[in-house]
Amino acid sequence: MRTQVAIIGAGPAGLLLGQLLHLAGIDNVILEARSREYVLGRIRAGVLESGAVELLERAGVAERLHAEGLVHEGFDLAFGGGRHRIDLAGLTGKRVTVYGQTEITKDLMDARAAAGAKTVYEARDVELHDFDSSNPGISWTQEGGRKALGCDFIAGCDGFHGVSRASVPPGAIKLYERVYSFGWLGVLSDTPPVSEELIYVSHERGFALCSMRSRTRSRYYVQCTLSEQVDEWPDERFWKELRARLPEDAARQLVTGPSIEKSIAPLRSFVAEPLRFGRLLLAGDAAHIVPPTGAKGLNLAASDVHYLAEAFIAFYNKNPGELERYSSRALARVWKAERFSWSMTKLLHKFPEEGDFGRRMQLAELEYLATSRAAQTALAENYVGLPL
Ligand code: FAD
Ligand code: DHB
Repeated sequence: MRTQVAIIGAGPAGLLLGQLLHLAGIDNVILEARSREYVLGRIRAGVLESGAVELLERAGVAERLHAEGLVHEGFDLAFGGGRHRIDLAGLTGKRVTVYGQTEITKDLMDARAAAGAKTVYEARDVELHDFDSSNPGISWTQEGGRKALGCDFIAGCDGFHGVSRASVPPGAIKLYERVYSFGWLGVLSDTPPVSEELIYVSHERGFALCSMRSRTRSRYYVQCTLSEQVDEWPDERFWKELRARLPEDAARQLVTGPSIEKSIAPLRSFVAEPLRFGRLLLAGDAAHIVPPTGAKGLNLAASDVHYLAEAFIAFYNKNPGELERYSSRALARVWKAERFSWSMTKLLHKFPEEGDFGRRMQLAELEYLATSRAAQTALAENYVGLPL
């Protein structure tokens, strides 16, 4: 078997890249370790920047997004018992769209199936070969036998724990990392959201976030310790803790119900540099992780893929120089989103090790944000997404 671009991973990065390449007439095969159902069952991101929406439009997969996605013109910051709206549309002219990662994944999978492009699910023990040569390849185990695929390029879109980044010789890659001492406990429930827009809460008991997937499905998060387990958090305890962190008016509005998903995610900032190693190119979570505060993870995967698709298209149009630029173009945007996600995380979470002084610094910054149009504009500009 041979293809032009072998893509490892059928998350949003791999699927979107596959679709953009397919539309440009570039042959590609996706290898995914898990089953289609497993990939679709993972509940993750929910907020799309306008640039990511435009990219999905260009990929021809935005019909359902426009029909079902919720366009948000602002969000609330809550602290000290009050709520302060950040008017994204008024400050930047841009909006964000609430549409779940699982829905984007499904739309991309459906488009790929309609295009007849090949995806291998449950590809075990994927190995990358000879990406330092002009003739790279991939091998994997499927139905008990070893399979092989030759290609021009390998796109490593296999997430943080994938094989692509791990296949790079340690001397060729530099890793930057910050691990946080807490996680997010997330609950999905078929209950109406507490508010029309998202609420990010900084509270003495810890951070909380009220988000949603639709007008009838809510997504809530509370900051938790890393030693806690999901089964220590029966629904009742979760709702009680969330309510305790919300401003009073929101707490009164909160509609609770049985959780349909509950999970704990650790928080991490991570960047691998560079993103290109000969004919292997990394994109999305395979190359970088942001803490979720600010909803940048999926949006960064989309912007990497935008630059990477442009580079491949230029290569096949006899302009190989764009591939040289991929890493620096993508990383320039990645580092700014890393800074924003890190600063939002520091602003809104409880850091007991920072003591009373640290808390007063957070509150001073939040007060400043609540009253300064300049500060709100900087926050809003980053939240809606920096230009591609
Ligand atoms: P992924 O979605 O991780 O996709 C990678 C794919 O590669 C997976 O399907 C995986 O099965 C596959 N794969 C892995 N290893 C191999 C292998 N060896 N061979 C073949 N295939 C392989 N972002 C937000 O903005 N908001 C959130 O609330 C949020 N919550 C999150 C919760 C969790 C638990 C996690 C892990 C991430 C969350 N994110 C969130 C981040 C966001 O979901 C990611 O940034 C986004 O999924 C990145 O897409 P990706 O395609 O790069 O990677
Ligand atoms: C969601 C997650 C985020 O990290 C965020 O900042 C906003 C929304 C969500 O899952 O809906």
